[in-house]
Amino acid sequence: MKYAIGIDLGGTSIKYALVDKAGNSFFEGKLPSFASVSAAKVMEQLIKAATLLKDEAAKQNWTVLGIGLGTPGIVDETNRIVLGGAENIVGWENIDVASLMEKQMSLPVVVGNDANLMGLGETKYGAGRGCTHVVFLTVGTGIGGAVIIDGKLFNGYANRGTELGHVPLIANGERCACGAIGCLEHYASTAALTRRFSALAKEQKLSFDTEINGELIVRLYHENFPLAVECMNEHFYYLGRGIAGFVNIFSPQRIVIGGGVAESGSFYLEKIRAVVKKHVIADCALDTKIVAAELGNKAGLIGAASLIL
Ligand code: BGC
Repeated sequence: MKYAIGIDLGGTSIKYALVDKAGNSFFEGKLPSFASVSAAKVMEQLIKAATLLKDEAAKQNWTVLGIGLGTPGIVDETNRIVLGGAENIVGWENIDVASLMEKQMSLPVVVGNDANLMGLGETKYGAGRGCTHVVFLTVGTGIGGAVIIDGKLFNGYANRGTELGHVPLIANGERCACGAIGCLEHYASTAALTRRFSALAKEQKLSFDTEINGELIVRLYHENFPLAVECMNEHFYYLGRGIAGFVNIFSPQRIVIGGGVAESGSFYLEKIRAVVKKHVIADCALDTKIVAAELGNKAGLIGAASLIL
């Protein structure tokens, strides 16, 4: 059997596995990415992950065809160089990641934007299966997007496209980490949700025993805790408005949403659907189904490996 090493680099961790052509993954693992330390440290972790899998494949007598890597930010049109736009990874700019990895691993390396590859993975093997037109959103620290048109990943000219998290939502809003004003990501990411909740909690002199994160806010929302209800409703509103725009532009068969909070239950999708319904051009929206991602945090590495297989 032939396999590819699939790696998904994130701001917190590096997820990796050996993947076969049917999208099955083996020897999955996770390492810290050390994204706040340095690009060199991140490279070290990527090599560590790839080496673990290469050694494992050798033990099994499996053939490894190459390495597919998903990374936040913009990757050049040769699918080798990270140009920038990954605000969560220190110094992750103008780095020829593919050449650096190829030198150390002696395997071909293909690099793509993390969200694009998650969208590709979900369309081939997950919640977008059987569809030719899919819009994928990953809602986490950032918001990433992928657009599949006529069954193919749409990358925009020179691979710079489909940064759906950086579509302006609020004209006179706050500044996003990318430097622009009012981006969808700045208002509708999980980071935005926790930021808003923390700020209001401080104002209201509320304190919590555990770390404030998406999971806590969702739990409090289900308990009808007023601040959590307020912040979640705001989150649904911003994300729903953004999605309504994507429905109007692309008229996809499915909008697939991934990410921790987004995958926390059907209530989430119902709330989003209600906002989207109010804000789309009605006829255009008729067939768009808004669904949760199915591959969980494996979508990115499976999509990345599919570039090789
Ligand atoms: C970045 C995207 C990335 C997304 C998800 C955003 O902040 O701009 O390139 O796909 O986060 O990681």
